[in-house]
Amino acid sequence: MSTSKTIIFTLFIVTTLHASCNAAANATTKPLFPAILIFGDSTVDTGNNNYPIQTIFRAKHVPYGIDLPGSTPTGRFSNGKLMSDILATKLNIKQFIPPFLQPNLSDQDILTGVCFASAGAGYDDRTSVTTQAIPVLEQPNMFKSYIVRLKGIVGDKKAMEIINNAFVLVSAGPNDFILNYYDFLSRHLKYPLISDYQDFILKRLENFVQELYSLGCRNIMVGGLPPIGCLPIQMTAKVNLFRSCLEQENSDSILYNQKLQKLLPQIEASLTGSKILYANIYDPVMDMIQNSGKFGFKETKRGCCGTGFLEMSFMCNALSPTCGNRSEFLFFDSIHPSEATCNIIGNILDRQIRGRFQA
Ligand SMILES: *[C@@H]1O[C@H](CO)[C@@H](O)[C@H](O)[C@H]1NC(C)=O
Ligand SMILES: *[C@@H]1O[C@H](CO)[C@@H](O)[C@H](O)[C@H]1NC(C)=O
Ligand SMILES: *[C@@H]1O[C@H](CO)[C@@H](O)[C@H](O)[C@H]1NC(C)=O
Repeated sequence: MSTSKTIIFTLFIVTTLHASCNAAANATTKPLFPAILIFGDSTVDTGNNNYPIQTIFRAKHVPYGIDLPGSTPTGRFSNGKLMSDILATKLNIKQFIPPFLQPNLSDQDILTGVCFASAGAGYDDRTSVTTQAIPVLEQPNMFKSYIVRLKGIVGDKKAMEIINNAFVLVSAGPNDFILNYYDFLSRHLKYPLISDYQDFILKRLENFVQELYSLGCRNIMVGGLPPIGCLPIQMTAKVNLFRSCLEQENSDSILYNQKLQKLLPQIEASLTGSKILYANIYDPVMDMIQNSGKFGFKETKRGCCGTGFLEMSFMCNALSPTCGNRSEFLFFDSIHPSEATCNIIGNILDRQIRGRFQA
C-alpha cells in the first residue's frame, strides 16, 4: 500500500470507528418517551389546517417555513420549527411532528406520535366560530381515530403502552382571549368579568385533560398564557405610540396563569398515576422582552413579516417583505414566535420535563 493509500485507509477506519461509537452512544440514549402527542392551536399546529377545514388560518405559503428544510411552507406559523418540534427533537423522538390529517402518514409516524392541534382553536368552542378551526375539545375525536390506527399496527396492548408512556403537550388559550373575549360582545354579556370567563375556560381545560386521561394519556404538559398584552397585534389594536405592552391584558394573563398553576396539581391528584406539568410561557417571553440583548434579539415589538404590526396568516404572504435577520426577532408574525424564540422556550421546557421524568 502506498503511503497516501495508507493514510486514506487509516482515515477511513478512524471515521468509521468514530461513527459507530456515535451510533452506539445514540442507541443507548433511549428516549424518555416512545411518542409525542400534541393538542392545541397555531403555536403547535404543524399543518392540520392545510386539509379541508374552512378556515382562513393557514400558513402553507411563503414566507412561513422559510427556515425549514428546502424553505418549504408546511402550515407551521413560524419561519422554522415550532416549540413542539424542538421538544420532540430534544427528547430524542423525532425532528418534526406530522399533522394527523396528513393523508400519507407512515406507520413509523403513527408510532412516534402526531399533532392534533388546529390553528385558531381555543378551549371555548365559540372561538372557532370566528376562525373555523377544530376546537380543542373536539380534537380528542381525531385522537380516537389515531388510537384505532395505532392498535391496528401494534395490537391493543402495545398501543395502550405507547399512549400511557407518551408525552402529551397541550398549548392553547390565547385565542379565547385575542380572537374572542377581548373583541366579541356576546362573551362579555355572558361573562361580564374576565375572571369569570377565565374560570369557564379553565373548567373546559380540566374536562379536556380528564378526557385525555380516560383515553390513556398519563404525562401531560399544559401551556399557560404568554403576556398577551405584549403580542404585536394587541399593541397595534390599542393605538399606542410607543408600542408598550398593554398592562391590563398582561395582568389578565398573570391571573389566568396563577389559577392554572393551582388547578393542575389538583387535577394530577385526582387522576391516579398521572403527571400534569405547567408550562410557563409568560416568564421566559417577558425575560426575552426585557432583556432582549441577552438572547440576541433586536426587535421584540413587531413581527418579522411585513410591517410586523398586523400581518399574520393570509396577510403574511409572498408580497410581504421580511426582516433581514430572523433570529433577531422575537416574533415572526404579529402573533407567533420566531424559531429563535421557540428554541429558547423548547430548551427551558426540555429541562423541566427531564427534571420531572428522569430519576
Ligand atoms: C448521534 O447523535 C448526535 C446528536 O444527536 C448526531 O449528531 C449524530 O449524527 C448521531 N450519530 C449517529 C451515528 O446516528
Ligand atoms: C406526504 O405528504 C406531505 C405533505 O403533502 C409531503 O410533503 C410528503 O413528501 C409526503 N410524503 C411521502 C412519503 O409521500
Ligand atoms: C443574526 O442574528 C443572530 C442573533 O443576534 C446572530 O447570532 C447572527 O450572527 C446574525 N446573522 C447574521 C447573518 O447577521
